[in-house]
Amino acid sequence: MVTISTHSSWLSSAIALLCLFPILVKAVDKSVFKSCAESSFCKRNRHYADAIDRSQFWASPYEVQTSSLKYDIWTGKLEGNLIKNLPNGVQEQIIFPFELSFLVSGNARLKIDEERRMKQNISIPGFGNLNKQRYNQAAEWALASGAAQSMGENVTVHGLEDIQNGFAQTFEITYGPGGSKSVVMSMNPFKMDFRNQGESQVLLNSDGLINLEHWRPQPANDQLFDFQLNEMELNHDMWADQFKGFKDTKPRGPESIALDITFSGYSHVYGIPEHSDTLSLRQTRGGYGNHDEPYRLYNVDIFEYEPNSALPMYGAIPFMQAHKQESSAGVFWINAADTYIDIIKTAASNEDSFDITSASTRTHWMSEAGIIDLVVMMGDTPGSINKLYGDLTGFTTLPQLSAASYHQCRWNYNTQDDVLEVDENFDLNDIPYDVIWLDIEYTKDRSYFTWDPATFPNPELMMQKLDESKRKLTAIIDPHLKASSRVGSEIKAQGLAIHDKDRNPFLGQCWPGDSYWIDTTNVDARNYWANQYALGSEFAGNSTNLFIWNDMNEPSVFHGVETTINRDSIHIDGWENRDLHNLYGMSVVNGTYEGFIARDANSRPFILTRSFFAGSQRFGAAWTGDNVATWESLQIATPMLLTNGVAGMPFMGADVGGFFKNPTSELLARWYQSGTFYPFFRAHAHIDTKRREPFLVAEPYKSVIRDAIKLRYALLPSIYTAFYHASVDGSPIMMPVYYYTPKNERSFAIDDQFFVGNTGILAKPVVQQDVDSVEIYIPDDEVYYDYFNYHCYEGMGYHSLKVELDTIPLLSRGGHIYARRDRFRRSSELMKFDPFTLIVTLSKSGFAKGDLYIDDGNSFDHQSGDFIHYEFTFNSGFKKLMAVNQNKSNPDTHKFIDGMANVTIEKIIIVGDLTPTRSDSQVRVSQNTESWDASIVNKSLTSSAHVLVIKKPNVTIGTDWEIQV
Ligand code: NOJ
Repeated sequence: MVTISTHSSWLSSAIALLCLFPILVKAVDKSVFKSCAESSFCKRNRHYADAIDRSQFWASPYEVQTSSLKYDIWTGKLEGNLIKNLPNGVQEQIIFPFELSFLVSGNARLKIDEERRMKQNISIPGFGNLNKQRYNQAAEWALASGAAQSMGENVTVHGLEDIQNGFAQTFEITYGPGGSKSVVMSMNPFKMDFRNQGESQVLLNSDGLINLEHWRPQPANDQLFDFQLNEMELNHDMWADQFKGFKDTKPRGPESIALDITFSGYSHVYGIPEHSDTLSLRQTRGGYGNHDEPYRLYNVDIFEYEPNSALPMYGAIPFMQAHKQESSAGVFWINAADTYIDIIKTAASNEDSFDITSASTRTHWMSEAGIIDLVVMMGDTPGSINKLYGDLTGFTTLPQLSAASYHQCRWNYNTQDDVLEVDENFDLNDIPYDVIWLDIEYTKDRSYFTWDPATFPNPELMMQKLDESKRKLTAIIDPHLKASSRVGSEIKAQGLAIHDKDRNPFLGQCWPGDSYWIDTTNVDARNYWANQYALGSEFAGNSTNLFIWNDMNEPSVFHGVETTINRDSIHIDGWENRDLHNLYGMSVVNGTYEGFIARDANSRPFILTRSFFAGSQRFGAAWTGDNVATWESLQIATPMLLTNGVAGMPFMGADVGGFFKNPTSELLARWYQSGTFYPFFRAHAHIDTKRREPFLVAEPYKSVIRDAIKLRYALLPSIYTAFYHASVDGSPIMMPVYYYTPKNERSFAIDDQFFVGNTGILAKPVVQQDVDSVEIYIPDDEVYYDYFNYHCYEGMGYHSLKVELDTIPLLSRGGHIYARRDRFRRSSELMKFDPFTLIVTLSKSGFAKGDLYIDDGNSFDHQSGDFIHYEFTFNSGFKKLMAVNQNKSNPDTHKFIDGMANVTIEKIIIVGDLTPTRSDSQVRVSQNTESWDASIVNKSLTSSAHVLVIKKPNVTIGTDWEIQV
């Protein structure tokens, strides 16, 4: 029996809930969030774009000052000034120094700042210690160390002298391997054209929408005409604005930056999470099926969000990928301020010398503050763009194996007995799981870094018990700290909190009531935060199986403007929250990560975050926040997770079952079947919902859920291998179909099915109620086998699959080899020495390849070579299956490799057209200079593929081997 104890803080919980979640769930209240028209800088920039669009005689006031251009061959940097000519009457030129550099990663980077603000030569009456510069540190947070290094190698500048002598208006710089990439820069108006193999890919300012709101003194009355404005600009709320009764003081005045970026010849663009929307992004200027509002990146607490929306969400990755048959491109807009992005798709136009050949996608990026800092990436395939983006911002951290397994969460497991009872019930019901979670009620009065002694009197004992089955616990720690708690008073006293505009610690409401927010953008605060996780502390005890969940880190502020903190609140060094809002959540996790490394430098941290920014993939996982137990919510989860994978942050999940409301058993079962393939696979539920742990669900649903979780564990070796790929080259783990078939346009917008890493497993989980068939799209001419019964499907196009409640539509593409572990264990670590099964699905031409990455699943020893990485190939000409360990290093530590010496491959299943040549009953196995026979069963199944099963080949894991069939 699961006991639910009453708890004193539940009353306050209920009161807070009533304020936050008005009785039972309705849809999100969109009016809480600013539309573009309600956001003064967005309104100004959209107005500017519209005015330019309508005007026939408009000439952009931005030109390159040719005399300022300087190229340094050693660093490969071009420097110069962009000039903004103010309208007649003002007779002033505003200088924006820019820098174009070519990075070691093969990317090109453009930075544009404002001279006057750089020199801090502006006055901000009454705000003495506010930072006067434009915020220029987003890149320091987002980029992996050393990634921004530029170089002159392979970079050649053509025609710069002609520009300087006034003979030319454009010049070209070639860069990249063999000079295959180039950028053509136009002087007046300023434009840039990035080309790959001579073909335009990414155009900057081809629509002339660049708008850099320069510093100017505040006019006596904001409503008076501002003489610094040209005729296309709007004088609107430049110095203050009001929204829902909140006043935003803007002491530095207007400072937005905007630029149009056109993906030439591309009609599909992806990325810029987080939005509850399709994988291929929609247009945003109205029309059937389009949005009326730009996609917005501004981290907010958007509970009960709805599908098909451009509204801002918890995370923000300002990275967009474009893909067409011949090539792919990407743009990373390194800015952490509130950002709106308009998307318009256009048909062909050749009017411009910047030749837009076929359908193109024009995008308009508008950020409230900061500098222009962007990186352009060009490559042949979407995967090549992931690699370039990862080289820059870092790759997904390789998680502990348990973090890639199944997680059981709810708000809340109320006592330590409750936790242990849930744990036991999983075992009694033969359902594996790895991590159990504690939401906010485990704390004493919602003061983080404490345990409520009444309900969790001995957390260490609880964790020891969990450790007996190698399970872990994740506890929530939010960045709002109860004002009267130890940590609350300490951060106040030590000046480590975010401050309000009047320089008092920002005091707001969150779960604990009155709270302060730690300013983890301040290194001292980050160190303080990191220290709270130390082993031996009152909180962590000595439990190394304790992981952390940083929630509400947008930050969420109850009754706050747009659910978050005021933009004019102040962080370290006098930066406003406006400058860095979208990276705050990442800074919290960064501190937690540092705490974990300090706790044990050779144990991989596991941290879940709700808020994220570019670079967050280096620290852990994220999830899609407070979804709802509806079929629509289940459906939209897949495109959302695919989008995060495209944007370099694939370790992502959605609350299985839906956070709000009670799912029907059917919905819950179907959600588990989808969740099996979520990179982060966690069930979670709101405090008001009924208990719904898998073992409580009635049959037949319980068995369906058990099977789905068991399938995750069976496929864990392959899913972990997909994590490995993500950690070295940025490959998505749930892989969009177009990554497999980059030349098939029909696959570009498919987002209700996906591949599992590079296994060739094509999943189309059922996300509709009460269906008896699904249409699965086969995107190429390869043969596909049903994962469970090997039935063959061939022919590009849709195929109908019959489904029962217990069916997960799953096909295996011919040409792949992947690994499974088929024995049931209670948790992933207990599977450590279990044998593997290999599945070989032959392509139509009789080939297959694949790989398997294995390491100890929790330490960093793999970084010094203690891992095994098999590459498998099967060639039906030679009828030989070969396994070659790619790790030829002589590792410093062999602990893991040595421990695998007795682990075997117990079965190999070869699916496809194959007749053994040696014998019908035996294959020849060779490993480590020895050879032996193993038996085979050779079956031809009616209406299914031919299947050959090699039983107990008994090759061991570690060294190379081969099997002759
Ligand atoms: C909001 C989170 O999104 C949700 O998952 C969590 O249960 C609640 N905060 C309470 O901590």
